[in-house]
Amino acid sequence: MLNSVLRPLAAALGPGDGGGPAAGAETTPASPAEAAWDAALFATRLRARLADAAPPGLLEATAALQDLACQLAPAAQRASRIAELAGIQAALRAAIKVTENGPYLATNVPAVYTCLGEQLAVPPQLALCRCGQSAMKPLCDGSHARFGFSGEKDPHRVLDRRDS
Ligand code: FES
Repeated sequence: MLNSVLRPLAAALGPGDGGGPAAGAETTPASPAEAAWDAALFATRLRARLADAAPPGLLEATAALQDLACQLAPAAQRASRIAELAGIQAALRAAIKVTENGPYLATNVPAVYTCLGEQLAVPPQLALCRCGQSAMKPLCDGSHARFGFSGEKDPHRVLDRRDS
């Protein structure tokens, strides 16, 4: 949560008061699953409203919250939650952004498959691991920040070549 949600959100929002509830405001305690779902809905609506102006940190945090909310939901509700999130951001064009020293941010991609060809049921905003350190591949878990991943080209990389 710290690496995959709070760190990218802090980077996206910049310095400030955090936007928390006003002093003295009443808050209703929620279960972790309810809190994650509320946070995912909030982040998804904000991400959809900002569209192409949404900063990468917001996309990364939204992806983590969408995944968390769907994982914490009862199995019978996951498909409907993915569909609800997809509906909120349906107007966004399908795209994949490469972040500086971070994951691929995939929005509204039509399908995601494993290397064995199995289709994954995934939320509409994804952060896909690019550093190889995630414990939940293919999704990013924020480990790239902890390990200081650099997206620069490795001078010792195997050069591209045409495959026949
Ligand atoms: S890019 Fe984030 S964990 Fe790999």
